[in-house]
Amino acid sequence: MFETRQIHPTLAREVVGLSLWQTLDDATVAELRDLYAQYGVLVFRRQALSEAEFAAFCTLFGPLERTVRSDWASPTTPEVTVLSNLKDGLGRPIGGLGDGELQWHSDQSYMMKPATGAALYALELPAAGGETFWVDLRAAYAKMPRQLRTQIAGKRAIFDYAKRLAGYGRESDRQISDEARRLTPAVTHALIRAHPETGLGSLYLDSTTTIGIDSMDTTSGLALLDEVYASATRDEFIYAHQWQVGDLVLWDNGFTMHRRTPFDPGARRLMKRMTMNLDRYRHVMPDGRLSQSEVGMPI
Ligand code: OGA
Ligand code: MN
Repeated sequence: MFETRQIHPTLAREVVGLSLWQTLDDATVAELRDLYAQYGVLVFRRQALSEAEFAAFCTLFGPLERTVRSDWASPTTPEVTVLSNLKDGLGRPIGGLGDGELQWHSDQSYMMKPATGAALYALELPAAGGETFWVDLRAAYAKMPRQLRTQIAGKRAIFDYAKRLAGYGRESDRQISDEARRLTPAVTHALIRAHPETGLGSLYLDSTTTIGIDSMDTTSGLALLDEVYASATRDEFIYAHQWQVGDLVLWDNGFTMHRRTPFDPGARRLMKRMTMNLDRYRHVMPDGRLSQSEVGMPI
């Protein structure tokens, strides 16, 4: 069996005593699924996993997704996304995201049906920087000023991958295939979502993709979103992860955002990421629709 350690009041538990390359028994798997649904961020340290073992573990939480960034996929396991500043023998990036800062975001928010499960596995780390933070958007919603809650009630934000791309520091990360562009038209998601089991509300946000609020003019929509982001990312809602080689962090993008600090381009950082489709009866699901501006309406 295993133990858990509280590493944040509402978000994030560390799971101690499991070797994830071994086959886990049904009771353990059931308990991990409960913990994942309840806390949103699970940390496992001192793991040594092949890509096949990483994939087998992640599949316990839902079918694996291949993201539109096939250019960042591992050559051996296409469901694994390689995130690194390292280059191969010909000087080509071996994966995505480089060494730059990543602002508060939720993976896949630019998709109509985001696969909200994610896992990040650390293989090489810089001595400083490259830290990752997660924010609990259930707690943020619960503590949001009443007036702001009223202002966003029933509203949908517009999420566009083009905005995320423009923010990337590396040219190779900003370029996507025609196929990826076709798969990522602007979409809208409700800003508030209820958990399917508890009925509790949480925010659904991504500061790197939101370009406005549906049915509001762009300036007022973005101003309202700025207020929401400021209120939602207060320190008390944030879990800061100190990476060690061998860490595996599992998180739920349905009610969290994460951000990463930049690091020295001369240092080495290598992470492997998995994306999973979580159980919609146990996890908050965004409810994407095609944005009106993409279906022939004047912007
Ligand atoms: C991600 C991500 C942050 C990091 O994998 O989606 O945002 O710390 N990674 O590399
Ligand atoms: Mn991310």
